[in-house]
Amino acid sequence: MIFEQLFDTKSSTYTYIISSGKGREALIIDPVIEHSDEYIKILENLDLKLVKVLDTHIHADHISGLNELNKRTNCTRIMGEKSKSEVVDIKLKDNENLNIENIKLKAIYTPGHTDCSYCYLMDDRVFTGDTLLINGTGRTDFQSGSPLDAYDSLFNKVLKLPEKTLVYPAHDYNGKKNSTIENEKNNNPRLQVSSKEEYAEIMNNLNLSNPKMMDIAVPANLKGLTLNQI
Ligand SMILES: [Fe+2]
Repeated sequence: MIFEQLFDTKSSTYTYIISSGKGREALIIDPVIEHSDEYIKILENLDLKLVKVLDTHIHADHISGLNELNKRTNCTRIMGEKSKSEVVDIKLKDNENLNIENIKLKAIYTPGHTDCSYCYLMDDRVFTGDTLLINGTGRTDFQSGSPLDAYDSLFNKVLKLPEKTLVYPAHDYNGKKNSTIENEKNNNPRLQVSSKEEYAEIMNNLNLSNPKMMDIAVPANLKGLTLNQI
């Protein structure tokens, strides 16, 4: 299997390129528009054909590469069914599978960070978007976020996955590349709570400033802008 984890330093976003092998079909998760050339080059070097691109949710801190990559390669744009994107080609239901040849990713609806957030389970690993971060969790104070929904998504869905499952988030701000469900359950400070009310109390008092790109990124991602439109 080909598994590449790429990093955007500006927004600290992780992007994933996945394929069953050289010369085969590929999927990209959470691409950042400014890196479209780089992704195309990697795909060419590995003789991969990009067939699907996926965003875990509507991002507020960067413009997604979904539409630029679709324009260049005609790949299919995919999100979860709760996405309000105006341009997505396929919207996956909760528990529905996305297939890339023999690789399967199961969509798990995990609202909380936003109301359109999904995690994607692929064999031994889960792509958690901003629902579960390494030593953190996604903020819940905009884009129809809800700390109570986030608690349910985390404690009743994500943390119920097998403990050895690898966690690959959409961001990390401290250079960590992955974790495990077990490690997050035991060490993530946000998850050491005894009730959903306690979790909501923490999340409602983070007092974070809005992402710098938010007013540009959210509308651009809903409309599906390409490089020459931003
Ligand atoms: Fe996000």
